[in-house]
Amino acid sequence: MTGQAPWPAGPVPPLGLDVTVPNVARIYDCLLSGKDNFEADREAARRLLEAVPDAARAARANRAFLARTVQFLAREAGIRQFLDIGTGLPTRGNVHEIAQIADPQAHVVYSDIDPMVVVHANALLANSLTVAATHADLRQPDQLFTMPVIRTLIDAGQPLAVLLVAVLHFLPDADDPWALVDRIKRRLAPGSYVVISHVTSDEIPREAARQAAEVYRNASAPGVARSRGDIARFFSGLDMVEPGLVDVSAWRAPHLAGQPRPALFSAGIGRTPLPGRERAD
Ligand SMILES: C[S@@+](CC[C@H](N)C(=O)[O-])C[C@H]1O[C@@H](n2cnc3c(N)ncnc32)[C@H](O)[C@@H]1O
Repeated sequence: MTGQAPWPAGPVPPLGLDVTVPNVARIYDCLLSGKDNFEADREAARRLLEAVPDAARAARANRAFLARTVQFLAREAGIRQFLDIGTGLPTRGNVHEIAQIADPQAHVVYSDIDPMVVVHANALLANSLTVAATHADLRQPDQLFTMPVIRTLIDAGQPLAVLLVAVLHFLPDADDPWALVDRIKRRLAPGSYVVISHVTSDEIPREAARQAAEVYRNASAPGVARSRGDIARFFSGLDMVEPGLVDVSAWRAPHLAGQPRPALFSAGIGRTPLPGRERAD
């Protein structure tokens, strides 16, 4: 559905591209064989693949997980509004394309800290009345949730799916990402969902993890692989959807059972408790 979008376009800062600094959105685009990247991004991706040869496979598996979760949320859970935080450069199988198969009127807001991502997303959306992209920093969730575009497209009284897919590992512990996710959860209506995938350190050899961290140390954001235990803490207060917190390739993908290890991303979906079913923790 297209026309004149009724919300004020969110401010997008000037691109101010420094193509000599590897950018986390564009490194990921390289891993997915995308075309929206520069030499510094490709060099960073090459170094990452030297350290962690499974990184490109894991990026594709993460993208496939995202697609399966949106299918689950739209078809089985009946979710009709989605907020995709740290959405990344548009690629195949974007959230609105999957959600709107179940319901063409499903609302989707994309947000990202990277102006280039927002410009690309807006170009793809071309004045959709149900989908928008906005520039926002996950570290300021209260600002994000009060933006006009969110207040127009997202009904705060209805269940919402918040997607935090492959983004929380760009926030160091000093940002307290657990507290940030808790602030998001507090804004969600009962029966909402939080989808998280996160780079896990448990199965990466220590030296490979060190080299990968070094690649991101010189990039637009640091990369922080976390233990499965630390990733599980993001879901506190939520009811886990089966099969719980697992390797991205293992989340509701029986056809992928027995895929090669190591697991580089842990992933899961939690649901905010329904009234009368408060959790004990
Ligand atoms: C690896 S990409 C993930 C893209 C997509 N979610 C996926 O999993 O396919 C991570 C994205 O998170 C964005 N990002 C990093 N830090 C962020 C922050 N503080 N707030 C919002 N977005 C952020 C990056 O710009 C990048 O586009």
